[in-house]
Amino acid sequence: MQLLHHVQSLRHALNAARSEGKKIGLVPTMGNLHDAHLALVKQAQATCDVVVVSIFVNRLQFGLNEDWDKYPRTLERDAQKLKAIGCDYIFCPEENEIYPNGMDTQTRVIVPTMANALCGASRPGHFDGVTTVVAKLFNIVEPDVAVFGLKDYQQLAIIRRMAEDLCLSLKIEAGSIVRESDGLAMSSRNTFITEQERPRANVLNKQLNAVKTAIENGDMDFLALQAASQQVISEAGFKPDYFSICNSKTLDIAAQDDKHLTILGAMYTQGARLIDNISLSLPQ
Ligand code: PAF
Repeated sequence: MQLLHHVQSLRHALNAARSEGKKIGLVPTMGNLHDAHLALVKQAQATCDVVVVSIFVNRLQFGLNEDWDKYPRTLERDAQKLKAIGCDYIFCPEENEIYPNGMDTQTRVIVPTMANALCGASRPGHFDGVTTVVAKLFNIVEPDVAVFGLKDYQQLAIIRRMAEDLCLSLKIEAGSIVRESDGLAMSSRNTFITEQERPRANVLNKQLNAVKTAIENGDMDFLALQAASQQVISEAGFKPDYFSICNSKTLDIAAQDDKHLTILGAMYTQGARLIDNISLSLPQ
């Protein structure tokens, strides 16, 4: 495994692989890797000859009052984990390698509307930072396949939309959500959940499952289901951000005749903001 910091050296290595006809996979991350990230890497390895994991804590996607400076940076440990599963390249650039002209005047890639709903409503500009850096990573790596975790469902839907709108030819794959034994979705931010809160932190996942079952059993009163879910989360001692039943592709509020639904939720613990989602298909 090679650890590369520069665009030029990564391109050089990948051009050689590409000229031998090798298929290239990319897993973009911000590091602090856990089992869910490693599952994405293994998924990429299943169909690609060469896999690149990027590790870059992208300041452009953090709001001013968010946790960019606190975000755990654990490169040595991440590298050991990636080496152990046979990853080929870690691309770990400095900020000035990705934003050589600074961030203020950086050309942005923006997916309007979708980027402003749900998490985008509480984190203005977040998804513009994500799509901008992901577009850059796609141009640097030129992968055949890129794998993103389903936990960040809105991020995945927005990146798919960006790829469709910009006629990108790579394949975007979703990696399923990896969960702790009580259902809590694995996340780097779980380390910020306090010990007292941890036993109840799976309330979001439990409620997503409960609402999925209710809809499958014919309850189509989405507004009431959303309101009741926020109440359950509050009663468990957390501050709900949103709980929304959406069209799986557009992320618009679901219509009564939509067949593919995704229920997305976000809530605040004392030290973290947690997100989760679940999808369901109704009979045609
Ligand atoms: O999901 C993440 O870790 C980040 O948003 C990503 C896709 C690596 C872009 O910085």
